[in-house]
Formats: sequence, structure tokens, C-alpha cells
Amino acid sequence: MPVHVGIIMDGNGRWARSRRLKRIEGHKAAETSIRETVRYCGEAGIGYLTLYAFSTENWKRPKSEVAFIMALLKRFIRRNIDELDGNGVRLRAIGRLHDLPKGPLEVLRGAMERTVSNDGLNLILALSYGGRAELVDAARKIAGKAARGEILPEDIDESTISGHLYLPDVPDPDMIIRTSGERRLSNFLLWQSAYSELYFTEVLWPDFRKEHLHRAIEDYGRRKRRFGGIG
Ligand code: IPE
Ligand code: IPE
Ligand code: MG
Repeated sequence: MPVHVGIIMDGNGRWARSRRLKRIEGHKAAETSIRETVRYCGEAGIGYLTLYAFSTENWKRPKSEVAFIMALLKRFIRRNIDELDGNGVRLRAIGRLHDLPKGPLEVLRGAMERTVSNDGLNLILALSYGGRAELVDAARKIAGKAARGEILPEDIDESTISGHLYLPDVPDPDMIIRTSGERRLSNFLLWQSAYSELYFTEVLWPDFRKEHLHRAIEDYGRRKRRFGGIG
């Protein structure tokens, strides 16, 4: 069983287009996939689920689509927070959260505070998240400490970098799943994915159901992880 699963939830637009619907209908339909995935991970005893919901690059999409996604974020949290909290889920987030509009950000912060002491699944939403931005932000924090004499440059090691990422307590993802047939990371968890098992499926995110997740986790169980050693 993986401890931490990351998912690049891709293909909402294509799902909608294939039904002659507007792209935003694909984003709406994603709610069911997220709910099923979260429930499955909670029941399976997976510790951490990181969902890539909005990248630093997604800001370049048309304003109307971005606004719709942000409104959906707020709606998703409002509609699901009671159930998440009831199931012991702790809601967390990574990314440049200060870039989010005020309304969704307030709802997100409220939900994170409400669930802070839950000890079930850690559900981590990657919002205005970029792996490079995360490393830039970490570099700024470390450089600040160095400038104040709190850390010596020669003492900087991998654990210093890991320790200055958005959520230093979260273990690296064991498996990263990407839907919709694209085979790239698109700036997701660049530092943390060094030894992640990658799993690609043609299924579009709005069609993704627990049987698809189950298949991915079975596949993970057959992988031989060597981390550079000889196994
Ligand atoms: C993923 O679906 C959702 C976000 C990136 C916000 P897309 O909107 O990227 O869907 P496609 O890739 O265009 O089909
Ligand atoms: C990656 O999907 C980001 C999210 C799923 C939030 P994109 O659709 O933005 O990625 P590219 O543009 O195909 O690489
Ligand atoms: Mg896409």
C-alpha cells in the first residue's frame, strides 16, 4: 500500500468537449471523481492524498474559466466539508495560496482550521501550485535565514530543502497517477517525485472511479522499488 498518492487530475476539458459541452461542465463533473477517490483512500488507510487542482501555469487560461474553477473550489469545500470532517479527513493545501481569490481562500482556510486535529486521511489540495515555485519559495526562506546568520551555506543539505517546502511533514509521494493519457508531470511535486512510481491512464478525470484507482494501486503493488540500490 502506498502511504502517499498524488493525482494529476487531467482531462476535464476533453471530457466535456467529447460530449459537446462547455469545458466548465468537465470541471463540474470532477466532483464525483474527487469524492470517490477520497472515500477510497480513507477506507484503504492511505495516509496522504495530494490532488493537483490548479497549477501556477493554469492562471494563463481564459479569465472566465479561471473564475469558474475558483468558484467550484469554494462550492466543493462547502458541499463536502461536513462529510470530510465526519470521516476524520484533514484538509490541507500547498501552493501560492495568497494568489487565490478572497472568497475561496477564506472557505479553504476555514475548512483547514476546522479539520486540523483530524487524524484520518490528509487530503492535500495543490492550488496555484507549481513545483518550481515551491522550490523558489524554499530558496527564499533558506536565503533569508542565511542572510540573518541562522544557517551556514555549507550546512544546507537535502533535508534543509525538504524542510522548507510547503508541508515539510508530508512524506514524498509513493505513486503519482495522471489521467487523460498525458505523460508528463506538468510541474507537480518536482522535488518530492524523485523516486515516485508513475502511473498513467487514458481515463479522463471525470470518468475516474474507484475501480480505476484500485487498478492503479494493484499495479503499484507489483513495482520493484530500488531507490538506486540493488533491491
Ligand atoms: C484538468 O483538466 C483541470 C485543470 C487543469 C484545472 P483540463 O482542464 O486540463 O482538461 P483538458 O486537459 O483540457 O482536457
Ligand atoms: C496539469 O494539467 C495541472 C492540473 C491538473 C491542475 P494541465 O492540463 O494544466 O497540464 P498541461 O498543460 O497539459 O501540461
Ligand atoms: Mg489538461
